[in-house]
Amino acid sequence: LAAVIFFVTSRGGSDTLKIGTIMSVSGPVSHFGTQCRDAIQLAVDEFNARGGVLGKQVQLIVEDDEKNPEKTMNALVKLATKDKVKVVIGALTSDCTLAITQEAQRRGILLFTPTSTNDSVTDAGDLIFRSCFKDSFQGQVMAHFAVENLNATKAAVLYDMNNDYSTGLMKSFEETFASLGGTVVASESYAGGDKDFNAQLTKIKAADPDVLFLPDYYNTVSLIINQARNQGLDAIMLGPDGWDELVGQAGEEAIGGYFCNHYSPDADDADVKEFVRKYRDRYGVTPNALAALGYDAAYIVLEAIERAGTDDPQVLKKALMETDKKYVTGRITFDEKHNPVKSTTILKVVKGADGKLATEYVGMVDPE
Ligand code: PHE
Repeated sequence: LAAVIFFVTSRGGSDTLKIGTIMSVSGPVSHFGTQCRDAIQLAVDEFNARGGVLGKQVQLIVEDDEKNPEKTMNALVKLATKDKVKVVIGALTSDCTLAITQEAQRRGILLFTPTSTNDSVTDAGDLIFRSCFKDSFQGQVMAHFAVENLNATKAAVLYDMNNDYSTGLMKSFEETFASLGGTVVASESYAGGDKDFNAQLTKIKAADPDVLFLPDYYNTVSLIINQARNQGLDAIMLGPDGWDELVGQAGEEAIGGYFCNHYSPDADDADVKEFVRKYRDRYGVTPNALAALGYDAAYIVLEAIERAGTDDPQVLKKALMETDKKYVTGRITFDEKHNPVKSTTILKVVKGADGKLATEYVGMVDPE
């Protein structure tokens, strides 16, 4: 009887292909994490409706990291030891992903982050990939935009000194702005979780910048912009992809700001339109950039598993390197460090027709 039970369970197990995902489903950036998870599930269900991958139904095992690096590590260990997955899509924010890249590499797990932009994310080894551009690229793009499109000569930066994402962006923006002949008149910092930025903003106001670069996520940025305007600071606000969802959070004082993002749901592009329609049909809201990146990540990984004929990371990594296709967030090929070479979209915060904040497409910037 024992042998029969063993036979049945092992056969049952082989009918599914397990993929892990680690997302900030709760915690301070849960707007990002829930949409990204939902989009990954949407992609998985589309493969399953077509018969699955390698003849198996794909089972997505979701772990919540709460945007906490230690919890991210626990989630990775659980997926590796209990669920025995070989492929993990995640994590969402750079600090959480950086906490697990070495462990994933050591355990022989293929880790694919849809959204972590910090430059060093893929440094840990040949099993780490991502489907988003890097922070050095976004920092450079926004510095060029400030100098060339807004004629800025004086810039200030206010960043989170304890966050890899924020400090990496600060450096690339400041270096590029200075290399283009501009002057960084103030560079102030805070610690993650701070809610009062008035002391730093007073110094920044005294330096009278044309632009203020705010490299952080939507929740902190909306507090900063509010306090800056209350102090009478009139600089044009600039930001990175963490500003996605700002329009749902900030007050009217955010109008006039510009940021860099992975896609615009309003883009005149067949893949974007189809994705936005399917996501809205299923979840009832317009997908943010994280959702678009999660959907692309799942497609890139599952298509590579089909090409490889296996989810064995050593074979899969080679199939991933052959990726060359247009997805929702753009055409994807990988460079030797497993970073995609792709364009970025610049968006402006405006007042929409319904009186609520909205984003307006400004333009696309291609990598050099
Ligand atoms: N790029 C951010 C990080 O690395 C996460 C993020 C992606 C935020 C996309 C907003 C939009 O932490």
